[in-house]
Amino acid sequence: MNSPSPSRRWWQDAVVYQVYVRSFADSDGDGVGDLDGIRSRLDDLVSLGVDALWLNPCYPSPQRDHGYDVADYFDIHHEYGTLETFDALVADAAERNIKIVMDLVPNHCSDDHPWFLDAVAAAPGSPERARFWIRDGIPDGAGDPHGAPPNNWRAGFGGGAWTRMSRDDRQWYLGTFTPHQPDLNHTNTDVQQMFAAVLAFWFDRGVDGFRVDAIQPVGKHPDLPDQPPVLPGTPELQITWENPHTIFRPEGHDVWRYFRRAVDAYMARHPGRDLMLVAEAYLVGRPKLLAEFARPDEFHQVFTFDLMLASWNTDGIEAALHDVLWLSEQGIDPCWTLNNHDIQRAATRLGRADAHLPGAVVANALVNSSAPVDAAIGRRRALALISLAMALPGSIYLYQGEELGLPEVLDLPDDRREDPVFLTTDGAEIGRDGCRVPLPWRSEPDASFGFSDTPADGGAPAEPWLPQPTGWGAFARSAQVGVEGSDLDVYQTMITARREHAVGQPLATDVEHLGPGLVAVRRGGLVVIANVSGEPVALDMGHPTLAGAGPVASSAPTEMHTPGVIPPDSTIWFAT
Ligand code: BGC
Ligand code: MG
Repeated sequence: MNSPSPSRRWWQDAVVYQVYVRSFADSDGDGVGDLDGIRSRLDDLVSLGVDALWLNPCYPSPQRDHGYDVADYFDIHHEYGTLETFDALVADAAERNIKIVMDLVPNHCSDDHPWFLDAVAAAPGSPERARFWIRDGIPDGAGDPHGAPPNNWRAGFGGGAWTRMSRDDRQWYLGTFTPHQPDLNHTNTDVQQMFAAVLAFWFDRGVDGFRVDAIQPVGKHPDLPDQPPVLPGTPELQITWENPHTIFRPEGHDVWRYFRRAVDAYMARHPGRDLMLVAEAYLVGRPKLLAEFARPDEFHQVFTFDLMLASWNTDGIEAALHDVLWLSEQGIDPCWTLNNHDIQRAATRLGRADAHLPGAVVANALVNSSAPVDAAIGRRRALALISLAMALPGSIYLYQGEELGLPEVLDLPDDRREDPVFLTTDGAEIGRDGCRVPLPWRSEPDASFGFSDTPADGGAPAEPWLPQPTGWGAFARSAQVGVEGSDLDVYQTMITARREHAVGQPLATDVEHLGPGLVAVRRGGLVVIANVSGEPVALDMGHPTLAGAGPVASSAPTEMHTPGVIPPDSTIWFAT
């Protein structure tokens, strides 16, 4: 077995499992996942083979964006547990050699955060208002001198980006996502000091790193000028992300530098701690810009979403590999991910009839799509893609449920949907609830497929916060554990194969061309070949790359195998 060199840091090759706390496991039967639920399932994650957990935000929050609206950065949300439960989770995880990564939301807090309530109560020009982006309104043409918002910016989840502080206030505040998420002003020293204190507070509790949310809009042009016109036809929800006065501003880098200084100072005071910050920024196909955030005085890592959003064809996948492997050549460890809580699940989006067309996967991942879904093909492609990704250098983040092959739940009733994307667009955008449905743990059709435990009073558990489909039990962990060829089995096999054959091995500098419809990568004696063509492809086993190589792991079920052939929509690992 090849172990990573001792100078490698834990996060550089880690398999990180993303826990959407609300939907993972519910220990107290209230229909909402919680920290004790995670504690009760840690051994299952150990057997999957993960190195770390990333917990979606679990701070006190009114849950209007399920925790991405933080009301207190120094505590645990009451539905999830207490600081003591959190400490117990960190201790249980440490016993199993599992690291804990939290989610840090710097761009905005909740409009329930005491700072925002203070700002509403305070006067224009006050220090309380200086912590946010608050400006006088402009004349609305109907007689109110402050009746129109300060500029034309749009909000990322629909509607305008400005909201009046209160009904008769002459000032407005900026909310890049929704009005319940007022943007914080990181040029303000209170804000800077608070975030440095937040990092230290959780590091003191044993946290090993943070996934830093939505870094794009954190820096702003100090004068907040109007956004220039966008190209005609730009989708409403895309407009914000094209605003040059708030997206990927140079001012953002100053913020990441003070975050990094806080982490480095903490590590200097606590030798032996190995802490990291990983940035979330959707920058597909722009590795050079991504690299700017992974400079030595900014983030340790940046998520690379290129493979997640690649079309299912050789050009799409090779372009994604190419761009991200360029990062690797610059000494920046890629951070692969194929699913998360914001994106339509791979088993569904890759099964869409148009998934092989350029650009279609991006569209299907993020917005409503009407292309029909072939569930069997989607599942096979999702397994093939993760099996390719597992061979690549850098870390890999799995999103809970992908190891069970969960599809997106497309038919949630409208009145049960909770995502602000759905609510603010009046359903024009379906939103992200469909990838957040509580996990099935047991195939027996009890009320929640094992998601909720019995409450302390011995009564029946409450209904899960989002309804699970009737067929959910077929995906349950209990139905897959120990079953050869199940999704869970393929994930476990690939994580093991990754450690045995890939980690620590040099990557061949470019993707190999071994045949039409095939994408291949080589690391030392390992050759990993994905067939994205939909047809079986025979290999030239006499090719020098394959000389002496034999199969060691496969994403395809045994009955699809023929020696020397890569089955359609499958990935096979060969080793010499
Ligand atoms: C998170 C989303 C969240 C948004 C606003 C994102 O990038 O992943 O779930 O809604 O930031 O905080
Ligand atoms: Mg609960």
